[in-house]
Amino acid sequence: MNNKEIVAKAIYAVVKEDLTLEQVANFLENPKTADHGDVAFPAFGLAKAYRKAPQQIAQELAEKIDGTSFEKIEVVGPYLNFFMNKAAITEAVLTRVIKEKNHFGDQSIGMGENVPIDMSSPNIAKPISMGHLRSTVIGNSIGFILEKIGYQPIRINHLGDWGTQFGKLIVAYKKWGSEEAVKAHPINELLRLYVDFHEKAEEDATLEYEARAWFKKLEDGNQEANQLWQWFRDESMKEFNKIYDMLEVSFDSLNGEAFYNDKMAEVVELLEEKHLLASDQGADIVDLSAYDLNPALIRKSDGATLYITRDMAAALYRKRNYHFAKSLYVVGNEQSYHFKQLKAVLKEMDFAWADEMHHIPFGLITKDGKKLSTRKGKIVLLEEVLNEAISLAKEQISEKNPTLENKEEVAKQVGVGAVIFHDLKNDRLNNFDFALEDVVRFEGETGPYVQYAHARAMSILRKADFTPDETKAYPLNDEGSWEVMKYIQRYPETILQAADKYEPSVIAKHAIKLAQAFNKYYANTKILVEDEQKEARLALVYAVTVLLKEDLRLLGLHAPDKM
Ligand code: ARG
Repeated sequence: MNNKEIVAKAIYAVVKEDLTLEQVANFLENPKTADHGDVAFPAFGLAKAYRKAPQQIAQELAEKIDGTSFEKIEVVGPYLNFFMNKAAITEAVLTRVIKEKNHFGDQSIGMGENVPIDMSSPNIAKPISMGHLRSTVIGNSIGFILEKIGYQPIRINHLGDWGTQFGKLIVAYKKWGSEEAVKAHPINELLRLYVDFHEKAEEDATLEYEARAWFKKLEDGNQEANQLWQWFRDESMKEFNKIYDMLEVSFDSLNGEAFYNDKMAEVVELLEEKHLLASDQGADIVDLSAYDLNPALIRKSDGATLYITRDMAAALYRKRNYHFAKSLYVVGNEQSYHFKQLKAVLKEMDFAWADEMHHIPFGLITKDGKKLSTRKGKIVLLEEVLNEAISLAKEQISEKNPTLENKEEVAKQVGVGAVIFHDLKNDRLNNFDFALEDVVRFEGETGPYVQYAHARAMSILRKADFTPDETKAYPLNDEGSWEVMKYIQRYPETILQAADKYEPSVIAKHAIKLAQAFNKYYANTKILVEDEQKEARLALVYAVTVLLKEDLRLLGLHAPDKM
């Protein structure tokens, strides 16, 4: 039970006749400052029923309420301020953390049901962009968070490995490419060919025609086209995997757009059966005016299918294959319209489960205030960013702890972790700027700051040679530890909130707050001094290590024991 629930029950016991438990709970507030207690109840809500001044009601309630869970109940004007019994709560919460360890906050709401998460999904033959990085780390973290409340996440990399651009690539490669060049720098070379194609096609219109013909061959299973396509895909995957390895993200499925090539006919048939297809200058469309949306283009006049057709096939496949409870798409905000149309078409087809499909959009990353785009060759190579973050981390670790044994490994965990954390700490829809020097700092609201607080807490436990004992009681009643306790006590709610909103930033913010509260505690309290509360203080430090580590895990970061 959290503090609000405890207070609500205590008040409800004496106002049963006039308010429901829920009404009482809704009146409760969190006071802004600690001197107004932990929970406040404004008595205005009872003024009507009691026909008395709120001040007087507050006074009378204070006398009637059972005070066992509280240190004191103060009346300030119309407010009742409840000060929780810190010792009792600390004792109860610490015992739970010691028993449940990193499973503190787990829930079984998801009942083991599947949740496919469409994430990362870069395009073959193009560099993985900052946007794809966001999708990767946000999707990965949402997976951990949902798993913590009992769902089974299925991480799907819906690769952009199909579409007319592959016709262009084949033409460009055959005319101006070489095997050696692709092998040496796959993505750079494939991107160059692609850019070249567009330049030359401006002068020579037949190129577009040739490209379309090659894509048709690809769709029809032509051997040469398919071999080239497979090779482009393999080479690109090798490069993507370098980044996934650094981020330590893995996927349950790499079924991208190409996987649905042979599943598209069914989509078109289903639409026909349901009389939803209309013809528009030879192309097939679905009217979506009932949803206030533009028509969805399902099939071009040359028979080629589109991005949305492939997403329809994918949605059907996921429903049949995974029987999902819900199906998530972690894709940039700029594709919102696409996902609205996708859901609308499926709703038109009477698939009620389309309501359980959720687009999880996110904002843009800019660098020095400018948008990052691949078009103009202005690509920030992710691998370089990550490597640079690692070397920045290494510098700082060498300074702080020159004798650290596994410096290389810790530098990797801190550097890569810093980039991930920076991405996750803001509400996902916010746009944000990326400057590496700010990201890898050990101070401020950064990943290294949280990791460092964890390592510091671990070192206290080592120094004290402390092992928590779940049969012991660890009560604390001082203000300093209470400030830390608040973030421990609220953990289960924090998890639920993050899961509810699909917001890893809720976890990141919790980690920052807890790390800050702990650092303050550490600065103001002699944790290791020999007195009768020493063990309880250490139990609190232990709980801090468990929760910081769990927060970091949920975000996809390591928590080194030493750094
Ligand atoms: N490959 C696409 C892009 O880079 C993202 C795919 C998102 N997933 C989906 N099912 N449409 O823009």
